[in-house]
Amino acid sequence: MPTINSPLTDDAYKVVTEALRDALIDLIDLSLLGKQAHWNVVGPRFRTIHFQLDEVVDAARKHADIVAERSATVGSPADGRAETIARDTQITRLDAGWIRDDDVVAAFTGLYEGLIARMRQRAQDVEQADPVSNNILLDVVEELEKQYWMWQAERS
Ligand SMILES: [Fe+2]
Repeated sequence: MPTINSPLTDDAYKVVTEALRDALIDLIDLSLLGKQAHWNVVGPRFRTIHFQLDEVVDAARKHADIVAERSATVGSPADGRAETIARDTQITRLDAGWIRDDDVVAAFTGLYEGLIARMRQRAQDVEQADPVSNNILLDVVEELEKQYWMWQAERS
């Protein structure tokens, strides 16, 4: 089995790979919930929310890829399997079925609060251990906080 040499010390490796692992789970689950809501939103604001959710999904997938590849780069295989996401996600779940536009906005506004707090903490955790991963996670925080502003602005 080939292994990838890590540029990190053992202590830094542990901190960084844990942060990247958890960030990947959050981002993959965000992309899944974004599509779930994209398909099932109903109400007068259907089009706005429908397309806003695809922006969420596109950004989550883009950042998930960057985070996963950083994990591999520092020597830890990425784990984006459905079973891992289902078991370890910390994102508040959505119920199955149609979801009203106002309820989508409320649900996503709420889930971003926890998501941003966790992502900021991870960025802070890796700040000394690996500035490159810190930079990657700060980019994620920037994107999530921008989206959080938009969700808040959508609230009726
Ligand atoms: Fe679509």
